[in-house]
Amino acid sequence: MIELKINRERRIRNFHPWIFKDDIDNVSGDHTPGTLLEVKDIGGAFVGQAFYNPRSNIPARIISLERGKIGVDFYRKKIRVALEKRRTLVNTNAKRIINAESDGIPGFIVDSFDGILAVQIRNAGLELHREIILEALQKETNAVAAFERSDTSERNKEGLQPRVGVLWGEVPDTVRFIEDEVQFEFKPFDAQKTGFYLDQRDNRRRIASMVTASSRVLDVYSYTGGFSLYAAKNGANCLAVDKDAIALQTLERSAAQNKLEKKISVRLGDALEVLDQLVLEKKRFTHAIIDPPTLAKRKEEVIAAKRIFTIATKNVLKMLEPNGIILVSTCAFHIKVDDLLEACRMAGADAGRKLEVIDVTYQPSDHPWMLQVPESLYLKSLLLRAE
Ligand SMILES: C[S@@+](CC[C@H](N)C(=O)[O-])C[C@H]1O[C@@H](n2cnc3c(N)ncnc32)[C@H](O)[C@@H]1O
Repeated sequence: MIELKINRERRIRNFHPWIFKDDIDNVSGDHTPGTLLEVKDIGGAFVGQAFYNPRSNIPARIISLERGKIGVDFYRKKIRVALEKRRTLVNTNAKRIINAESDGIPGFIVDSFDGILAVQIRNAGLELHREIILEALQKETNAVAAFERSDTSERNKEGLQPRVGVLWGEVPDTVRFIEDEVQFEFKPFDAQKTGFYLDQRDNRRRIASMVTASSRVLDVYSYTGGFSLYAAKNGANCLAVDKDAIALQTLERSAAQNKLEKKISVRLGDALEVLDQLVLEKKRFTHAIIDPPTLAKRKEEVIAAKRIFTIATKNVLKMLEPNGIILVSTCAFHIKVDDLLEACRMAGADAGRKLEVIDVTYQPSDHPWMLQVPESLYLKSLLLRAE
């Protein structure tokens, strides 16, 4: 049993599922990492059930605010609700179907790519429940095949080894799916994370809606070229930049598949170095995307991350035509909209360009953001016009 300090149950009862070291007064019973324990307030009243892992910097994660068995039926109900929430997502056969805390299952991520599931199990509690949660997932989705990509840094923090492999069915060598009319692919065990950044879907649609056949798009930190393929489909010529050679090879295969190979070229290398070269080459673009990796996994890293945003944006601004468009994105919880605004304001000053904020966007609806779980908002983007 986990006994909380005075008043620490309030945040938990208001649907924030994390219990920090400082919230805990006392823990009794089994201390095996991942054990399910009852949580009580200082007066002994029931608060919920939580996975306990003394090795983690979040030692307890609430799985239910009610009593009752956490078994296959419990997980089936959660998965059913999550699937129902996403039923209205249209024009794609790929979606995130379970988004961890936002769908009431801490540490469980599942993406579906035309019926092939990509699964991540990120904490010790779920690892102990892996058989029952996978049974629930298989029964609720009827997916023909599933693979695991539990090779995230979150598992190290939980004291867990990476796990990668086939979970059930015949996982194809190449997973294929379609968003709007664009065909995508990836190799499940060579790709980053669960295979594809589905969370940029709405921003890709937005950029695609802004380009014409005379547009020239610079896609920085492109991965497998989601933005480039969308923009090229609408007529634009695109240059994609990434340091991941496998991702750029995948992009080239997808470009050929979509008959867009003449519209997309790639540059392999460090983004900031490639941007310097492009400035020297006097390249010009009408649209640009800057979508780096997390950059700040801890609060202390935010200042350095903002510098990278400023340098990248400044160089992009040097190459952007009048009234050019830039999308600047961060997937780091610790980097706030205000940080992005400030980094871009400094870039505007350095490049001598006046910037209009057209929009601020957030992650799409299959990556839900729960009001009481601030940590569930991670993707923030600025859509800017440079005069
Ligand atoms: C958030 S992902 C980009 C997702 C992509 N925009 C999409 O829509 O699919 C970040 C990308 O940055 C790349 N990356 C990380 N560090 C880099 C660097 N220093 N230079 C270039 N690319 C880098 C990673 O390989 C990864 O593909």
